[in-house]
Amino acid sequence: MTMAAAPDLLVARNVCKTFFEPTRGEDVEALRDVTVAVRPHEFVSVIGPSGCGKSTFLRIVAGLDRPTAGEILVEGRPVVGPGADRGMVFQEYALLPWKTTRANVEFGLRLKGVPRGERARIAGRFIDLVGLTGFENRYPHHLSGGMRQRAAVARVLAVNPTVLLMDEPFAAVDAMTRQRLQEELAAIAAAERTTVLFVTHAIEEAVFLSDRVVVLSGRPGRIIADMTIALPRPRVWAALAQDAAFVDFRERLTRLIHTGGAPVGGHA
Ligand SMILES: Nc1ncnc2c1ncn2[C@@H]1O[C@H](COP(=O)(O)OP(=O)(O)OP(=O)(O)O)[C@@H](O)[C@H]1O
Ligand SMILES: [Mg+2]
Repeated sequence: MTMAAAPDLLVARNVCKTFFEPTRGEDVEALRDVTVAVRPHEFVSVIGPSGCGKSTFLRIVAGLDRPTAGEILVEGRPVVGPGADRGMVFQEYALLPWKTTRANVEFGLRLKGVPRGERARIAGRFIDLVGLTGFENRYPHHLSGGMRQRAAVARVLAVNPTVLLMDEPFAAVDAMTRQRLQEELAAIAAAERTTVLFVTHAIEEAVFLSDRVVVLSGRPGRIIADMTIALPRPRVWAALAQDAAFVDFRERLTRLIHTGGAPVGGHA
């Protein structure tokens, strides 16, 4: 007798997207037949060259855009628009500039009708989790870039989404801060058992964070690989950067992206 595998939490089935490009007066095919399944608690990254449709794909999963064909299912239910079950963190800081850190983190809870005391308790927990205790009363323009992204992560986690969607959330911060944020996100996702779909064009970032990396070809984005990253956790840069298995995953993915999935040399 076999054990039933955990049902997929998020399924993108044969997603296609074609845009009409008014300035050129023609259609642009952005995504072709993209099928991805994410299991509960899994951290999956989508990588691919610039313009291959990564953001388009995430926006479709978020319900901010409609696929031309195919569908998205979350816990078996078709996505027809944005919903609190999918929390999104963008490249640009998604904070309300006129609200403090605390008010930003409480914002989604307020929309959900969570009572004041409960709101404060939940917000405090997530502010603490992302290391912003002491900065609750600051406004976004008095936080560093890395702190703003931490606040954006706390804000989304506080509403307890079924799946966390992240589109290059660390692209705007400096390299050292970025590595710290990656370590923190990996630790938080593991501790909270968050299911994450993460988009990046940084191959190292994808390998460091992920249980699986899905590779899209150049436009139109098609899946050319789906690689399991069998590296132990917890993951920290000081140990992984020189790790042979880490380097091997990074090199294999780099080759895949550069060849667009075609076999390199020799006969297959
Ligand atoms: N609203 C839109 N209307 C027309 N074309 C669009 C629209 N959004 C995206 N595109 C086109 O679809 C393609 C994919 O864009 P997308 O932003 O998804 O790529 P990406 O992989 O996220 O790129 P990057 O790595 O630069 O962020 C591009 O050719 C882009 O010009
Ligand atoms: Mg993008």
